[in-house]
Amino acid sequence: MNRKPSADAGGFLFSITFAPMSTIIAPSILASDFTRMGEEISMVNRSRAQWLHVDVMDGVFVPNISFGMPIMDAIAKVSTKTMDVHLMIVDPDRYLATFKQCGAEVLTVHYEACNHLHRTVHAIKELGMKAGVALNPHTPVHLLSDIMPDLDLVLIMSVNPGFGGQKFIPHTVEKVRQASELRSITGSKALIEVDGGVNAQNAPALVAAGVDVLVAGNFVFRSSDPERTISDLLASV
Ligand code: DX5
Ligand code: ZN
Repeated sequence: MNRKPSADAGGFLFSITFAPMSTIIAPSILASDFTRMGEEISMVNRSRAQWLHVDVMDGVFVPNISFGMPIMDAIAKVSTKTMDVHLMIVDPDRYLATFKQCGAEVLTVHYEACNHLHRTVHAIKELGMKAGVALNPHTPVHLLSDIMPDLDLVLIMSVNPGFGGQKFIPHTVEKVRQASELRSITGSKALIEVDGGVNAQNAPALVAAGVDVLVAGNFVFRSSDPERTISDLLASV
């Protein structure tokens, strides 16, 4: 359906961001001003962020509804960054191909929402996307041990999903460390992403524990100079 303004540029960015030399920042569009979404995406395009994080909520898996395909289509039209889509929905298998058409490049499903996770992960990859699995704060990391070699990304939730602007759960740092250890043991190449309440105070410990991708919503978009905040966040790690 929609493509980035330059497919070549998108492809190049995508290849380099899956072998990161430094931490990837993924601003979460959920925290942006939706009345000025085009300008907010332009700010991210100009910034040092490499990804754009897009939260899809269905009001069933999480107690909130964010937005769906028409908005994602619009985002993909103007974003030049890797589109990192976080599905907080039940039965994601029904929509995998549609999310691909809407511009998703990294597609993450929740462990807790998938009865046949192996099938779902491979369906995402067969559609040409990178496959991620997210863990809620209560879900232990060791449950990923069998699927870990198949994953491109592990998303450790540092808040209970459903809302932006929540307080970071400190135990997440230990879960990141466990995910990093599991990655080494299994020989997995998965990136480790953390999402929820991330800021310049907790980012250094997260990166030291093994995080490759920092999602940041309110910390970026509600700051007085979001583009600079992204640079400062990168400089803090
Ligand atoms: C929470 C979402 C997060 C959220 C992050 O359910 O998955 O991506 O937008 O926002 P902050 O950084 O404000 O916690
Ligand atoms: Zn998210």
